[in-house]
Amino acid sequence: MQIQSSVNLHIPVSAHSHIFLIGMMGSGKSYWAKQLAQKLKCGGYDLDYLIEMNEEKSIAEIFEEDGESYFRKAEAKVLRWFAEKKIFVLATGGGTPCFHENMEWMNKNGTTIWIDESIDVLAERLKPEKEHRPLIKNLSDNELKDFLSQKLAERRPFYSQSVIHLKDDDINLKNIVKLIGE
Ligand code: S3P
Repeated sequence: MQIQSSVNLHIPVSAHSHIFLIGMMGSGKSYWAKQLAQKLKCGGYDLDYLIEMNEEKSIAEIFEEDGESYFRKAEAKVLRWFAEKKIFVLATGGGTPCFHENMEWMNKNGTTIWIDESIDVLAERLKPEKEHRPLIKNLSDNELKDFLSQKLAERRPFYSQSVIHLKDDDINLKNIVKLIGE
């Protein structure tokens, strides 16, 4: 469990009311966003879901019909809606921090928390879900682990700009709440 920059642990939660959950697909960002939002009694949102509503297509359809670069623009646009929101927890997509200066933007506009699950856990969770996930849908189970390791290596420079870094067994609601200063 690590605070990566100068977050004051005793700042009341209202000061950390813009929470962005960051991390690889399969890390449980949406699950933790729901749990945390319930605990903080604020809105919990899922960026992929909002993009799907806005585009009236599934993420898989957007990738297939419009391409990844279009998806990344839509993602950056919907992310910036949160400049106007007062209190929220947002589960971002696995690639969100790596495009259109989104990581910088999130760090300017709230508290970023990296949910850093191991490659083994990610691979086990994602195996049965490959079909809905455009980046991994054509991979065999064996290829999946290599792909995830490579993606994580590419993304680490972005993810590691998060203010809070929670790894493996440290990923639980008690720690998240403690670290954001409730
Ligand atoms: C992606 C992760 C997905 C979704 C899209 C691309 C990625 O979100 O945004 O399929 O680049 O890792 P989740 O991390 O919520 O699965």
